[in-house]
Amino acid sequence: MISTGIQTAAYLLASILFILSLGGLSSQQSAKRGVIYGIVGMAIAILSTLLGKEVEGHIYIIVALAVASVIGITVARKVEMTSMPQLVAILHSFVGLAAVLVGFGSYLDPQTHELMGSERNIHLVEVYIGVFIGAVTFTGSIIAWGKLEGKIMSKALIYKGRHAVNILIMLVTIVLGVRFGMADGTNGLIDLSIMTVLAAFLGVMLVMAIGGADMPVVVSMLNSYSGWAAAAAGFMLSNDLLIVTGALVGSSGAILSIIMCEAMNRSFFSVIFGGFGNTSSSSSAKIEGEVTSISHLEMAELIQESQSVVIVPGYGMAVAKAQYPINELVEYLKGKGKTVHFGIHPVAGRLPGHMNVLLAEANVPYDIVLEMDEINPDLPETDVVMVIGANDIVNPAAIEDTGSPIYGMPVIEVWKAKKVIVMKRSMAAGYAGIENPLFYKDNADMLYGDAKESVVSILHHLNNK
Ligand code: TAP
Repeated sequence: MISTGIQTAAYLLASILFILSLGGLSSQQSAKRGVIYGIVGMAIAILSTLLGKEVEGHIYIIVALAVASVIGITVARKVEMTSMPQLVAILHSFVGLAAVLVGFGSYLDPQTHELMGSERNIHLVEVYIGVFIGAVTFTGSIIAWGKLEGKIMSKALIYKGRHAVNILIMLVTIVLGVRFGMADGTNGLIDLSIMTVLAAFLGVMLVMAIGGADMPVVVSMLNSYSGWAAAAAGFMLSNDLLIVTGALVGSSGAILSIIMCEAMNRSFFSVIFGGFGNTSSSSSAKIEGEVTSISHLEMAELIQESQSVVIVPGYGMAVAKAQYPINELVEYLKGKGKTVHFGIHPVAGRLPGHMNVLLAEANVPYDIVLEMDEINPDLPETDVVMVIGANDIVNPAAIEDTGSPIYGMPVIEVWKAKKVIVMKRSMAAGYAGIENPLFYKDNADMLYGDAKESVVSILHHLNNK
């Protein structure tokens, strides 16, 4: 057992480590350090809570920790990089469920009903809000998981009057909350239970109404909700560390959601209340021009003649695991004295930082990996852009076609370069399901094939020249 003073000091240390962890995760160079801070902080948090005076039944907790650790390690080892958003979504659902269970447990705890006056009222408000946020997070995250995993249609489910239904649920929730607060003893249990079912329904409806390219924002928004649910659980349990950690997760998730909305030129509220994913898959403008293609040999000749090359990777690079041969290609080109840069769109791939993680894994040097705003001004001076497995993030319709569902989303303006080669398997659409006029531009050629096989083939031709 440790004293309350030592526990408070340990909580403070863990909070500092969590803040340093978030700071570390903001750049590739310091990300590994950030993860280590997080692991150490969490180990201190768990140990100091376990050794606290108020904790009983250590054996159950240790068994639960051991079983959960085995499951966690197994799942984390198995998960593909492309399935990471689904894993994150399902983990958020656990935080939501935990907040609901803590809320019910805290309400049924006899000590709660020994509280008097404002202390009791405040505690009941904590329980009610915590259970509400937890239930919304729980079911919302399960729906997000289903959509990302392809188990539920990813299109937004929009029906007339849904805002009215949501507002009605909120109003009933408030009425039930007042009754819950006024009930004696545990008589508010029925109101709490009805509210939990309504909040769970609200979670389903909110996420069902969001779809298509808005899904990444939903995942980070649920991340934020799960943080607030954890903070609410912290209030219920009077655990300062859980409050701090929950607030950190809640606010960083909210900031990330806003950054992603800006990257897609979407208003945060229109994403949260849904609708975007339901837009028709074709844009209003008719695409003009002809699609032309080149061979791997021609591509090898083209980059050999070019002085500056920009590579724009997308989801297809992740699917094909093309990052390793791409790094070899970069080494080759740099060896020949050419300028090579990567241009990374903030929502390239399927999760924030997806491309950066893959490129770092293949040892691509950080200093040649530029963000969209850094690479766009260089493109008019670039000899050739290789678009590898990307589609929506290089779609000129976002700038040129006011009727396009992605109109206004900032994109990497690859068509401004002297030559663009789009490397993908077919003319198929990307995640947003819309056509890409880039493929029809005069200075663009398609290079059909799996991204990894194509890069390997280009390297083969270059090495045999
Ligand atoms: P997408 O627009 O999804 O396009 C990827 C392209 O890769 C596809 O058109 C596909 O065409 C090609 N591809 C697939 N497998 C390939 C392979 N083995 N080899 C070569 N090409 C392959 O990807 P993007 O440009 O990266 O844009 C990301 C999209 O996902 C955005 O709409 C974004 O909003 C959304 N999104 C992003 C996130 C985050 S946070 N990054 C999360 C969820 C959704 P073929 O089938 O013709 O090969």
